[in-house]
Amino acid sequence: MLQHKIKELASHNHERIVAFRREMHRNPELSFQEVETQKRIRNFLESNGIHDIKECADTGLVVLIKGKNPDSTTLGLRADIDALPIHEQNKTDYCSHNSGVMHACGHDVHTSCLLGAALILNELKNEFNGTLKLVFQPGEEKLPGGASLMIKEGVLQNPAVKSMIGQHVMPLIEVGKLGFRKGLYMASADEIYITVIGKGGHAAHPHQNIDPVSVAAQIITSLQTIVSRMAKPSIPSVLSIGKVIADGATNVIPDTVVMEGTFRTFNEEWREEAHWKIETMVKLIAEANGAKVEVEIRKGYPYLENNPEVTDRTRQAAVEYIGEENVVDLEIWPAGEDFAFYSQQVPSTFYRLGTRNESRGITSMLHTPTFDVDEEALRLGSGFMAYAAISELKFLEEDS
Ligand code: NI
Repeated sequence: MLQHKIKELASHNHERIVAFRREMHRNPELSFQEVETQKRIRNFLESNGIHDIKECADTGLVVLIKGKNPDSTTLGLRADIDALPIHEQNKTDYCSHNSGVMHACGHDVHTSCLLGAALILNELKNEFNGTLKLVFQPGEEKLPGGASLMIKEGVLQNPAVKSMIGQHVMPLIEVGKLGFRKGLYMASADEIYITVIGKGGHAAHPHQNIDPVSVAAQIITSLQTIVSRMAKPSIPSVLSIGKVIADGATNVIPDTVVMEGTFRTFNEEWREEAHWKIETMVKLIAEANGAKVEVEIRKGYPYLENNPEVTDRTRQAAVEYIGEENVVDLEIWPAGEDFAFYSQQVPSTFYRLGTRNESRGITSMLHTPTFDVDEEALRLGSGFMAYAAISELKFLEEDS
């Protein structure tokens, strides 16, 4: 039976995939600089007999694996390949050799799992109809997002991708489990930059100055009403101001206050409207206090919505592969993810691979200097992706 074959192949390849992951983890590269990573992925594929490889968005790769009737349909599988500017604190023998750069978001795991799936799918080419397009994507961690660049370069065309599946590690979920959510899943994430310009002076004579600190305080509290009073309760929204610099003293009112924050939500119309409200509120509060203000909102990734049908089918594949007891239903997760760009173009699903192992002390969150995974996850991550791909292709083919 197919599932059995896939599990055998995943176990057979496991050591090689772990070795690849460690090599990639030792040699992390920042967003859009993944030159060696790209070579490493290409070499691995070529040395395993996979040669239909094209470069895309400079440091990305697009790989085709063709089954029977390759023109019948195409499914996309995506892994991101870039690392973060974090100094790794783990003391493993595969920890980062590139000081200040670290695979702290598991993109080494995503890449290795997709390579593992590639080996399995290449071995089983006679067992499915259609074409698999494997997308090794650069620059997930940095605007404008590698996904948007690859889409501009036509990654979803020639052959046209019918649906798309992406996988991401999740340190809150036990190793051996997978998490799914249909509908709204991850947020749009925009950056807010505000500079309040007042008139500094002696703190004993506030009437002779324009105090940007009290203006900033009003702005911070008022902006919260955009979430609590103006957002539709059915559309989750988050507004956080995480940086406030008012560099005065006990007896000095500063000239300016600089603030930075983030606005996240799950609806493109509301997102536009909220941007306008933020800008207007900030300007009018400053004006009412006689201060000047500069406000800039830098747009990040759109929100990520998991297509209900693709998600149901992929979740069902997971139930078949690991049993219902190992399938977790996810909550909304207001982080940003550039997989959202694909999900806005084609029906897509983005699911989570459990990597947590408390008994081994593997519990650190994403984007922390102690993040690591239980590498057992690579066996499931490779095998399941192959199984989910073949299941989805079967559906797409019958549907077309
Ligand atoms: Ni990530």
